[in-house]
Amino acid sequence: MDYPHIAPNVWKLGVTDWDRRLFDSLIPLPDGTSYNAYLVRGSEKTALVDTVDAAMPDRLLEQLADVESIDYIVAHHAEQDHSGSLGAVLAKYPGATVLCSSKCKPMLIDHLALDGERIRVVQDGATVSLGDKTLEFIYTPWVHWPETMCTWLPQDRVLFSCDFFGSHVATSDAWANDKARVYEAAKRYYAEIMMPFRPAIRGNIAKVEKRNPAIIAPSHGPVYRDPRFIMDAYREWTSDTPKNEVVLPFISMHGSTRKMVDHLVHALSQRGVTVYQFDLSVTDIGKLAITLVDAATVVLGTPTVHVGPHPLVFYASHLANALRPKLKYASIIGSYGWASKAVEHIAALIPNLKVEVLAPVLCKGLPREPDFAALDALAAAIADRHSRLGSPS
Ligand code: FEO
Repeated sequence: MDYPHIAPNVWKLGVTDWDRRLFDSLIPLPDGTSYNAYLVRGSEKTALVDTVDAAMPDRLLEQLADVESIDYIVAHHAEQDHSGSLGAVLAKYPGATVLCSSKCKPMLIDHLALDGERIRVVQDGATVSLGDKTLEFIYTPWVHWPETMCTWLPQDRVLFSCDFFGSHVATSDAWANDKARVYEAAKRYYAEIMMPFRPAIRGNIAKVEKRNPAIIAPSHGPVYRDPRFIMDAYREWTSDTPKNEVVLPFISMHGSTRKMVDHLVHALSQRGVTVYQFDLSVTDIGKLAITLVDAATVVLGTPTVHVGPHPLVFYASHLANALRPKLKYASIIGSYGWASKAVEHIAALIPNLKVEVLAPVLCKGLPREPDFAALDALAAAIADRHSRLGSPS
């Protein structure tokens, strides 16, 4: 087959989606993405590992034109970017059986209207022989849905991981050669998709690394021939110890909140704290999510609109709450016209964040000397708290 060969009789198929710019009608994809499928040919049977997005079954079927028979299609995950072409592949191969986890089977029936007779549940640790190759199924729930699993190919020490360890990046490289680029794309992917499930992910890393894979083949982005690179990154991202970093998303309507942001960023910088500042009116929300992976503190900067926070700050607060980052501290700064309940409104939006709230700094109109002094005190409090953080593990 004229496709990247990642191990003996194992090929990387699938579609590189260079032009996609949004996932789930929500998540920015500045570098596109890919939907990887893999063909594994044993001496007796052939398996296809995952399919491609529901919008592109023909692209996968073209790649399978010379493949006469497929016995098994492994469905690691019911989300449509991998399962969406199962129906087309099942139609082409009437003898093929879908293999999936116990939670995945009803999801495939519900979401894709697949015939349950053609789906076989494989249990955690179960194996299926292809002759001289074996597929072993490893349940890895919550990377990032409850039904997700991985497949281990012991003869070649390949771990097929689906979304787990994946990256949203379109590249002509089959392998993760440009590590800096793949690291950033994988971190963005982790931040947007995986971060809410950090404890489950830690358990799943331990579960798969026991196999000591030589290759990790995800279903988004390039393949890792140095799996330690991505496993070490995941270990760091999922640890409980944050870095000496502040994320400062803000909105300013007439410049007053902006003056406060500028002052606080300078004051933090003077105290050795790294700050990531985002103007929410123009920012890529994925960039904001990436910085939330490691930060110890979030400070939200908002003017007051109709008594509460600006709607874009409302949105960012909701997002941070949903992503459940490892933040330890939070605060709010901003300016208001005549009255404000911004602090109370934001506090109600972030119940998932188990943070210590440091004294907010709100001022009426333009900030003045007492407000700048309060911002200096906030910077000092943040630097002091951060000095007591352990080293990230
Ligand atoms: Fe790539 Fe959760 O689908």
